[in-house]
Amino acid sequence: MATSAKILSGPVTQFGSDVRAGLCGTGPKELPSKYLYDQLGSALFEVITLLPEYGLTRADERLLRRHAKEIARLVPGPVLVSELGSGSGRKTRWILSALCQREPVSYYPIEISRAALALCESELGDVGCAGIVGVEREYLDGLREVAALRPDGVRLLVLFLGSTIGNFDSGADARFLSEVRGVLAPGDSLLLGADLVQPVERMLQAYDDPLGVTAAFNLNLLGRINRELDGAFDLRQFEHVARFNQATCSIEMHLRSKRRQVVPVRRCGFAATFAAGETVWTESSHKYTRREIAKLAVSCGFRPEAQWVDQEWPFAENLLLAV
Ligand code: TRP
Repeated sequence: MATSAKILSGPVTQFGSDVRAGLCGTGPKELPSKYLYDQLGSALFEVITLLPEYGLTRADERLLRRHAKEIARLVPGPVLVSELGSGSGRKTRWILSALCQREPVSYYPIEISRAALALCESELGDVGCAGIVGVEREYLDGLREVAALRPDGVRLLVLFLGSTIGNFDSGADARFLSEVRGVLAPGDSLLLGADLVQPVERMLQAYDDPLGVTAAFNLNLLGRINRELDGAFDLRQFEHVARFNQATCSIEMHLRSKRRQVVPVRRCGFAATFAAGETVWTESSHKYTRREIAKLAVSCGFRPEAQWVDQEWPFAENLLLAV
């Protein structure tokens, strides 16, 4: 067909090849969760953070707000701040302004989502930083770039908030933290947010809210494939599923095909076949214990300096020193 030949000649992006790899193999299907955050996905995630059932972000923010001065005291200056996955930047305000009261501080948010970087720059424009420089890169590439910019005698404070660490596969969290540590020098620090274990029902509600916002957020990934890769997903033929995996202590998010279907993704020149009930795994969110975080930190070359836990929602902010 002339039309599809024309479409096929378009360049296949990284997104396209990741989608093909995730949907075409013989094993369980999966899509990388980083692609959830296009402009619509980022906006939906902002709504998730307002849901009564999803207390994680508010707990993170409360801890940062309440302990910003203490954290600033524990991180000796002069310091350059970088953040892995800044999101909207709202949570970062408190710690940045506490640090900026002491001395001028530059802030380098690292994000693959341009929409999130733009949000973050406008949200934090009034904090009074010496400068905000958005870095549109993957976490480690961005961090290496930022570390290379560091002037002599300036320490790095890396923020990794919101429990994104829990979204790595088991074992990959330690590998990632070790890589972060490898970019840092002794005396640098990492402020790590981690969501803690709580009763299963409460964890499930946080990832399957009755309003359906989380479902919309997850399904938007298929919508994004339609928009950017000329896919033909009928979003009504898939449903959001959240389940707790006891063995890995994580909430798993999937998209389940309601029936057998074949879905062309024209821009990539393939069609994905789904059996009735077949699922596409999009993300897992591991829940930690307090001791587990400390052990993890030590095994990756950090010394736990302080840990703060929220009273309303079990979430821990951890200040780790590179040793
Ligand atoms: N990474 C976040 C978390 O684990 C984001 C998130 C919230 C999410 N709800 C989701 C990711 C649903 C995928 C599907 O909490």
